Amino acid sequence: MSTRKNGKSKKVKAGSNGSQSNGARRNAGYGAIDQKIEDLSKNTEESAGEFLTSDQGVRINDNQNSLKAGNRGPSLLEDFLLREKITHFDHERIPERVVHARGSGAHGYFQVYESMAQYTRAAFLQDPSMRTPVFVRFSTVAGSRGSTDLARDVRGFAVKFYTTEGNFDLVGNNMPVFFIQDAIKFPDLVHAVKPEPHHEMPQAASAHDTFWDFISLMPEAMHMIMWVMSDRAIPRSYRMMEGFGVHTFRFVNAAGKARFVKFHWKPLLGLHSVVWDEAQKISGKDPDFHRRDLWEAIENGDYPEWELGVQIVEERDEHKFDFDLLDPTKLIPEEIVPVQRIGKLTLNRNPDNFFAETEQVAFHIGNVVPGIDFTNDPLLQGRLFSYLDTQLTRLGGPNFHEIPINRPVAPVHNNQRDGFMRQTINKGQTSYDPNSLRGGCPFQAGMDMSGFTSYAERIDAQKIRERSPSFFDHFSQATLFFNSQSEAEQNHIIKALRFELGKLETPPIRERMLLLLAQVDKSLARRVAEGLGLKVPTKLDQPLNMSVPADADPRKLQPKKSKSTIETSPALSMANHLGDSVRTRKVACLIGDGFDDESFLEIKKALMTVGASAMTVAPHLGTVAGMSGEMVKADFSLLTGSSVLFDAVYVPDGAASVESLLREPEALNFVLEAYRHCKTIGATGDGVRLLNALGLVTQTDNRANGEADAEAGVVSSVAGDIDGFAAEFIAELRMHRHWQRESLATSTFERALPIAERDAKQLGV
Ligand code: HEM
Repeated sequence: MSTRKNGKSKKVKAGSNGSQSNGARRNAGYGAIDQKIEDLSKNTEESAGEFLTSDQGVRINDNQNSLKAGNRGPSLLEDFLLREKITHFDHERIPERVVHARGSGAHGYFQVYESMAQYTRAAFLQDPSMRTPVFVRFSTVAGSRGSTDLARDVRGFAVKFYTTEGNFDLVGNNMPVFFIQDAIKFPDLVHAVKPEPHHEMPQAASAHDTFWDFISLMPEAMHMIMWVMSDRAIPRSYRMMEGFGVHTFRFVNAAGKARFVKFHWKPLLGLHSVVWDEAQKISGKDPDFHRRDLWEAIENGDYPEWELGVQIVEERDEHKFDFDLLDPTKLIPEEIVPVQRIGKLTLNRNPDNFFAETEQVAFHIGNVVPGIDFTNDPLLQGRLFSYLDTQLTRLGGPNFHEIPINRPVAPVHNNQRDGFMRQTINKGQTSYDPNSLRGGCPFQAGMDMSGFTSYAERIDAQKIRERSPSFFDHFSQATLFFNSQSEAEQNHIIKALRFELGKLETPPIRERMLLLLAQVDKSLARRVAEGLGLKVPTKLDQPLNMSVPADADPRKLQPKKSKSTIETSPALSMANHLGDSVRTRKVACLIGDGFDDESFLEIKKALMTVGASAMTVAPHLGTVAGMSGEMVKADFSLLTGSSVLFDAVYVPDGAASVESLLREPEALNFVLEAYRHCKTIGATGDGVRLLNALGLVTQTDNRANGEADAEAGVVSSVAGDIDGFAAEFIAELRMHRHWQRESLATSTFERALPIAERDAKQLGV
């Protein structure tokens, strides 16, 4: 390909396999972070200052009119420019991913803290000075490509490491377990959760009959169901969620010794979620909420970071747990095998082009490098087939590994040839092995030359369609998860189940689910049942466990529960991983003309020093006049900004400003909604009147002695010093959410309404 700059022709080596270019060859083997950037740059195009051309490089003189027989006549077939443009447009879409269609990606790098040579010979895990380029894609599972980011769903967390020994893809999720134990059930699971086939509803939602019908017959899903009904399924940001490899993998060191390994990603910003009511509203106000959040954080230089964690288990300890390491519906509690943090992932560059990079990236769990190997987890084994297979259709043929985002930085030499869209121009007479005509090249690499060698696991077994009895306990870890949650988290799970099961149209499905929930925890089942106006059934006529063969022993048809060795696992509760960082948190400042711009600026400065930001929301866009005459830009109007898009709200002093806000139902709703979603709320001076009108504070709560008053995350200061208020407000912001309000909420709202009406009357509105 050649591009033209300033009329001059410039040769660019594009379309060939980048790993074979001179630049890549020079760098091969050294893991420089810019190696992938250099590789991608061979295919980038920048049209600033350039002439418009056809796909053949012919400059175009008229891109406004097609070629016609007379200016009112028919278009002519001869118009090669029209035909080329429309033909390309007609074929712009490719199939979306069959699952995980909705996603967002970013570039970055990974760096190990210290050599892991003791455990693995993977080159990217040896040298702390080496930065391995990565591309990461986050996703939801069930929705279509254009669906909302805030669906209740598992999030994909897929990382492609461009290592010097080839690509390693860690294709994980933000939950450490999965719904099913065997890959043969995956199409059933996905058919059940996707929109129902007769009317294609609902989009990106599990709250419908077919999903719960399937789940109610698959007790093995109960552990995962606890996670999906928890707040983990509605993250505040991709940057604030964990990631997990889910399956047990193997690390193999240079001596050939293998150990089991589970992979974890631990976000440095802590674990945070939104509440369900908020999630649903965000889906309307900004369906791209997570995509925007990731993009903006990277653009602003707030690079998202995660530590890579590993749980390592000696092969001799394989059977020492009360669950099977090969069962993907089980996790290894961190209290039993601690997570060692071995390196850091940093995302520091947004893609240049969504389609070329985020849409065309093709992850595959089978992309491993020497030192990392598989286990016999039957879900993992099925996945090993699925990814390569699905990408043949999605990306249109067998050469998708040559697409810039997918091609490795390690050199590629083999005898694979031809196929649709082949980019590489393989030279030479031979494309087979063994050969003598080319001296046997390309030749095999021994282990000492980084050759991949499958771990020689000993297998002596019958060929059989059966699950191991060690896979039969479907409830202990579901109970462990539920018991490990804080009170607020448990309440959210119960509400989520009431919502999801409440949407069902077929009553027996609810009954079956209640029976399954009762196996997890009786009070959980009872409280969900209360919300559904039902009683927990004690037994059902039909068998529950349908994942057994037609002629199975009837005893296997009933769910089974054994006892977990630990009662609770604090590591499972998000409440124990909040951290106190408020970096990148967004505070909405409600202002109208006449607001106290000086104290607003002080609060803004104080927030910036802790890495948070203050954004103004006003009755109108444009500028807003401060008390001191300063004109401040409104970042949002009450129509374009909504409290669900922020982490906290602040109402500054200023009688005129507050009066104008009191006249705006949207302003009152803004604060009330933030309160309901348990966010930090602050007000100073006259701003406290607004909180007062809503019944969130009473005037007597506020000491006029210069100190700010904080109760359940509502910070107010009628006449206090602004520095003291700022410190108190930030301290409350560090708590993230104030869940105690969920039990106060009803009384507060009862109090709030008459007060709001009274205030409105006094104001004559
Ligand atoms: C047998 C079980 C599974 C099968 C057959 C399966 C299959 C698939 C398929 C066909 C895709 C679309 C890939 C593409 O078009 O590029 C996909 C995407 C994905 N899967 Fe799975 N999957 C399974 C289980 C899992 C599990 C257990 C996890 C998590 C550990 C997972 C994580 C992902 C992720 C993160 C993506 C999105 C990758 C991306 O961002 O492009 N899958 N899966």
